[in-house]
Amino acid sequence: MKKPWDGRFEKDTNELVEQFSESVSFDKRLYKHDIRAGVAHAEMLARCGLISESELVQIREGLRDIEKEIESGELELQVPLEDVHMNVEAALIARIGDAGRKLHTARSRNDQVACDLRLWCRDAIRDCTALLTNVQRALVEKAEEHRELIAPGFTHLQHAQPVLLAHALLAYVEMLERDRQRLADCLVRVNVSPLGACALAGTSLPTDPQSTARELGFDACFANSMDAVSDRDFAVELAFDLCLIAMHLSRLAEEWLIWSTPEFDFVDLDESFCTGSSIMPQKKNADVLELLRGKCGRLYGDLMALLTALKGLPLAYNRDMQEDKEPLFNAADTVQACLSVAAELVRTTAFKEENLTRACSEGHMDATALAEYLVGRGVPFREAHEAVGRAVRAAAADGAGLAELSLEQMREFSELIAEDVYRALGAQNCVENYRSHGSSSPAEVGRQLDYWKERLPR
Ligand code: ARG
Repeated sequence: MKKPWDGRFEKDTNELVEQFSESVSFDKRLYKHDIRAGVAHAEMLARCGLISESELVQIREGLRDIEKEIESGELELQVPLEDVHMNVEAALIARIGDAGRKLHTARSRNDQVACDLRLWCRDAIRDCTALLTNVQRALVEKAEEHRELIAPGFTHLQHAQPVLLAHALLAYVEMLERDRQRLADCLVRVNVSPLGACALAGTSLPTDPQSTARELGFDACFANSMDAVSDRDFAVELAFDLCLIAMHLSRLAEEWLIWSTPEFDFVDLDESFCTGSSIMPQKKNADVLELLRGKCGRLYGDLMALLTALKGLPLAYNRDMQEDKEPLFNAADTVQACLSVAAELVRTTAFKEENLTRACSEGHMDATALAEYLVGRGVPFREAHEAVGRAVRAAAADGAGLAELSLEQMREFSELIAEDVYRALGAQNCVENYRSHGSSSPAEVGRQLDYWKERLPR
């Protein structure tokens, strides 16, 4: 097949090389972006007098038709033409001839691919942001559903202090909010046009890259043509942001996996989100949660692949950079799938209120509250900690909770303990007595919940 560089070559490309170096099998998904950038480039060429109005019309219409034909599958992209960019250009030339041969004026595949990829990242950021919001909303709905339910709060996966379940769910909403902010911040660096940098040095032709940048909705135009074609840090940054999303989802997944075991039995996963076993008839497995946890590995791999492909590359474009696309696409596809399924999983999961309540009486989770009670009576915290520790040891030996100790027994540990101590003990009292900013108190959690309900309307 004829190549644009045939003038320089006597031999045809080895077929192995064609197969080895092609990218069209995966960069095909950039065709809409490539065509959009192509039209904007042609419009700039016409504005600058580098092509005529009628040539512009032919190019624009030709590219629009090609877009439709790729979409419908009528136009099949060819491996010998390497990538989506040369396929689109070859199709245009086949269609409109000489006007098509002018499209690559003051353009290189180097600025073209960087531009297409940035446009694609922009879409990916938009889609991921919407999906993140949807998961946040699902969590807020769950929190609202169980506004007053108290759950054990854990550290080291050991009972720590009672919390409102809503508080724990809203913690994930906060994580996902930072993920959204990170994507918005990444967009600032993604949304810079590299188009017009040409191969690396710019051009001697009278072009106007700033106008193409505006036309394509970029917030800025490149400052340095060599940087414009060789930089992929925006892609690495996006991949990293996607990794954090996957990491956050993996934590929720792991937690709910633990909560779904008979040992905990806090959540009931909807059957439609579970799978069975091919041999053990009784099984109801939480494979979706395990995959949400497991997909994280793939994301981290994608980030490493990107970082490593770019390491040590001299300026400017190198073909190594073609290796940026598959990991980036994979990362975005995977995170989008994770977010879509996570939202519905949250919505369909039921919390077992009785079991959560029962679990709150285990593990002396009111010990810190008792220490704070003593602090309120002037006992230095370290001393209070020690006294309560001894009280816990005594209660545990009897298999009892702190609130089950008599006042007499309590006073063995501190004489400052009075009848009102029982208003400090037990999960319900603990939660009601919290008062600090951002705490698990009903007032603070209610305030957070109201904030999120307003921020994320249904
Ligand atoms: N398919 C290439 C890529 O994805 C496009 C740029 C090729 N440029 C070049 N000078 N060979 O990076």
